[in-house]
Amino acid sequence: MVVNKTQELDKITEDIIADDVCPDLRGGATQLVPGSGNPDSDILFIGEAPGKKEDETGVPFVGAAGKFLDVMLESIDMDREDVFITNIVKYRPPDNRDPLPAEISAFMPYLIRQLAVIRPKVVVTLGRFSMNVFLPNDKIGHIHGQPQRIDLSIREDLGDLQTIDIPKEQIVLMPLYHPAAALYNGGQREVLLEDFSQIPRLLEEISRQ
Ligand code: URA
Repeated sequence: MVVNKTQELDKITEDIIADDVCPDLRGGATQLVPGSGNPDSDILFIGEAPGKKEDETGVPFVGAAGKFLDVMLESIDMDREDVFITNIVKYRPPDNRDPLPAEISAFMPYLIRQLAVIRPKVVVTLGRFSMNVFLPNDKIGHIHGQPQRIDLSIREDLGDLQTIDIPKEQIVLMPLYHPAAALYNGGQREVLLEDFSQIPRLLEEISRQ
């Protein structure tokens, strides 16, 4: 049987529910927000966790931060159907609090499996939490907008996840500030748009390699 990417992603969603990941978060949330968009995309966006609107709709980045993400996508002639968007933590934390380390770890296997299915050319992390999943020792203020090559094969803390079949040495990551930051700080808006504008060239460079 040939299984396509959508079916593989659906299986990951089913597994999150069957494994009852983070039952406390699930108990306070309306629904799981697994991710949405084009599974064949070259770009995977990874945010932090669903907020109120996302919890209501089951779709990531549909609130105020999501509207700004749409503006940034438009600025590089893309829309949501051109990309795939997910979060590290896939249930809304109560009162939109920061995700806890244990919650991030609990969802990590499913995030890595999504990455292995989509196999994007570029992973764009939105905010410091999703950046730190891949680059635990870096500061977003230092490396935002600077593409990083990441090597998951040297991450002993990923344990069994090392057996998941992804091209671990070849992941290119673009760390960006979280779009919500731009809602409170006009300067960040310009920085984000500037960082975002590099994505098409980065994709072109990777395609040529
Ligand atoms: N912020 C996030 O990090 N993710 C969402 O899905 C919405 C807001």
